Amino acid sequence: MTTSKPVPLVAGNWKMNGLYADLDQIKDLVARVDRARPSCELLICPPFTLITPMAEELGDCEIALGAQDCHFKIAGAHTGDVSAEMLADAGCRFVIVGHSERRADHNESSRLVRAKAEAAHRAGLVAIICVGEIEAERDAGEAWEVVDHQLTDSLPDTAGAGNTVIAYEPVWAIGTGRTPTPDDIQEMHGHIRQRLADARFRILYGGSVKATNAADLMAVDNVDGALVGGASLKAIDFDGILDAYR
Ligand code: PGA
Repeated sequence: MTTSKPVPLVAGNWKMNGLYADLDQIKDLVARVDRARPSCELLICPPFTLITPMAEELGDCEIALGAQDCHFKIAGAHTGDVSAEMLADAGCRFVIVGHSERRADHNESSRLVRAKAEAAHRAGLVAIICVGEIEAERDAGEAWEVVDHQLTDSLPDTAGAGNTVIAYEPVWAIGTGRTPTPDDIQEMHGHIRQRLADARFRILYGGSVKATNAADLMAVDNVDGALVGGASLKAIDFDGILDAYR
């Protein structure tokens, strides 16, 4: 196993939230990060409509820009879809693939997620591949097995620590205010780390991360940052999470 700790990544996933007026939050966030720099990489993934104005707002500051999904083809007759190449062209460096909301709402299989991750790599983007069990699977003691399958089927051969981030997001913890215990997170992240066999992969935790629990969650072994939904929408909340790295 290759060792050497990766630089943590804290990523905000705005989901289907945000209008032009909310770019004020990004202005505010840039100012806060300028005042007190955290020792982690930062990423915001707005909806498609805000990628271009947000790229302008961010300018050459260190906060990276990402998208929440991509199609696996480069271009063509795919109404409503956006390719990884288009995202790179618009200034994205990252794209989330296989978020549980896409797996559930759009019936996305791990095979499709793998194709999307491959497309991200083809376009020079870092793919954030999401995995995580639903509550019934955890209760049945199947969480590891579920995550194992998702990893096996969602990670393309092109995946390496430089172009791929794993986000472990137990579905029952997303948007619920509930989180697994630090012990459960440590166990799952340790398990994922073993599977990846490379200590340089970043393994993010996601699901109800907020300012009040971020320091505890980010201190867990093999947690290399966070994927944050609700608490990434307001600069003051997101900035509170960054305190875990100040
Ligand atoms: P949450 O969402 O922080 O609102 O729980 C996390 C996610 O879905 O990435």
